[in-house]
Amino acid sequence: MRQRHYKLAGLAPAPAFALPPGHEGRFWTPSLHEPLPPDLPARIFTAWTAMHHLRVFRNRLFAIYLVSRDGRLVHRSCVLPAWYRLPFMAAQDIQIAATHTAPEARGQGLARAAVSAIVARFRAPGRTIWYFANEDNHASLRVIEQCGFACAGEGVRTRRHGLALLGQFVIDRPADLIDRGQPADFIDSGQPADIGEPGGPDQPAR
Ligand SMILES: CC(C)(COP(=O)(O)OP(=O)(O)OC[C@H]1O[C@@H](n2cnc3c(N)ncnc32)[C@H](O)[C@@H]1OP(=O)(O)O)[C@@H](O)C(=O)NCCC(=O)NCCS
Repeated sequence: MRQRHYKLAGLAPAPAFALPPGHEGRFWTPSLHEPLPPDLPARIFTAWTAMHHLRVFRNRLFAIYLVSRDGRLVHRSCVLPAWYRLPFMAAQDIQIAATHTAPEARGQGLARAAVSAIVARFRAPGRTIWYFANEDNHASLRVIEQCGFACAGEGVRTRRHGLALLGQFVIDRPADLIDRGQPADFIDSGQPADIGEPGGPDQPAR
């Protein structure tokens, strides 16, 4: 499965979306008081928290935006710092990842409000905010396009030493080539791993 990558550079204009009434949003960041993200059972969040502490990430911006309604978590979106899996990201960049809305809460604007909250908090001169989704994930693509992100290109997940887990997400067809209808570049950084789940924006739920 191919992915479509999006970016919002620096202080480029982006529409602001608020949470619908009755919802509360807040940022979780690793702390002594709250060492692990609450109500998120998936192991990937523990792994990312460990990677934050081990300084695997290239900056200290790891965070998760949590949306609750009546005390129940209905949405989360992660802020993942640059790391080796997305080699096109600069050291100060972040990626919005693992975006997920509870099935019964979808279509109410929670995802776009979460992206908007992350943009408002993390955008900065010289920092690009990235996002990617499988090319058939129409809901996810709609959300990020609504939020004003521009298509950066299409790509694949590569394997390293035969393992998708060690591979990278690479852009092999930049947006300007898509506009001109040209095919993907030859990929020389590894074998494409068409494993059906991209492992980036929404690894736990996909
Ligand atoms: C993708 C996802 C996070 C969207 O969450 P959401 O809270 O329903 O999104 P929003 O309500 O903010 O929707 C924003 C826009 O996307 C549209 N949208 C939502 N679901 C859609 C769907 N299935 N197909 C097409 N458009 C969709 C909404 O209609 C809205 O656009 P509109 O204002 O023009 O109507 C949610 O569908 C989800 O959790 N999916 C499973 C996990 C996943 O795929 N995550 C993304 C990984 S990259």
